[in-house]
Amino acid sequence: MASSIRVLRVDVVTPFPGMFRALEESIPGRAQAAGRLILGLHNPRDETDDPHRTVDDAPFGGGGGMVLKVDPIFRTVERICATAGKGEVILLSPQGDVLTQRIVEQLAALDHWVLVCGHYKGVDERVREHLVDREVSIGDYVLSGGELAAMVLIDAAVRLLPGVVGNPATVSSDSHTTGLLDHPHYTRPEVFRGWSVPGVLLSGDHGAVAQWRREQVLLRTLRNRPDLLDSVFLSEEDQRILARHGWSLSNGSRRDARQMEVGNGHTRHRESDADA
Ligand code: ADE
Repeated sequence: MASSIRVLRVDVVTPFPGMFRALEESIPGRAQAAGRLILGLHNPRDETDDPHRTVDDAPFGGGGGMVLKVDPIFRTVERICATAGKGEVILLSPQGDVLTQRIVEQLAALDHWVLVCGHYKGVDERVREHLVDREVSIGDYVLSGGELAAMVLIDAAVRLLPGVVGNPATVSSDSHTTGLLDHPHYTRPEVFRGWSVPGVLLSGDHGAVAQWRREQVLLRTLRNRPDLLDSVFLSEEDQRILARHGWSLSNGSRRDARQMEVGNGHTRHRESDADA
């Protein structure tokens, strides 16, 4: 059977390339060793002309902090695209679209990214206006720079490349891939300090295990992230399970009227219906 071997090329523009040694470990490390992830690290200091190799400067108009200069970033990205082709240029910054599994899936479908790591007070606005295709944040908090955010994005995408994670079922049942949270997992021993694994998992009854897992997915999502229930298709059985645990069916039927199908069973609200 033919399997689709895809390679993701990621060029990172960063004054701190050493931070990316973390990607030599675990699944990103295995993906690099297997040639499925090609990581290029580019220091904008190498594209400066002054003896101090300056990549940042004080902001026009005053105020605190330093701003990453436009010229070394442009030169670095243009050199990458001239040699490796035009990739999707993504700026990591707290002002970007907040990363979700859907955004990771969209980006993982592309072959080449150029990640620009913001630093200090930020980047010269002309980078954002004239160089960048999209801007991504990993959450509503401020990091010292975009490097950790870039690594989060790379890690999340690499595990979606076919064949990088051994068993595809692992990825397809991940929290958020399904639109809901994952069910609990257990491995040996069956009893640890008196805490037993749920009996159904030892029963050998595959139907009962599947039913228990679905129930756990729904209850965990209801408990920890009830907002996610608004955005997925729920069968009547799902709704009955949730109703037994206090979830209101009237919310459900209102939601059904607002849902529209998108792709693989996921649903989302029409923008005009955002009344929550
Ligand atoms: N740089 C600083 N904070 C960030 C964040 N939350 N996401 C992405 N890049 C950042």
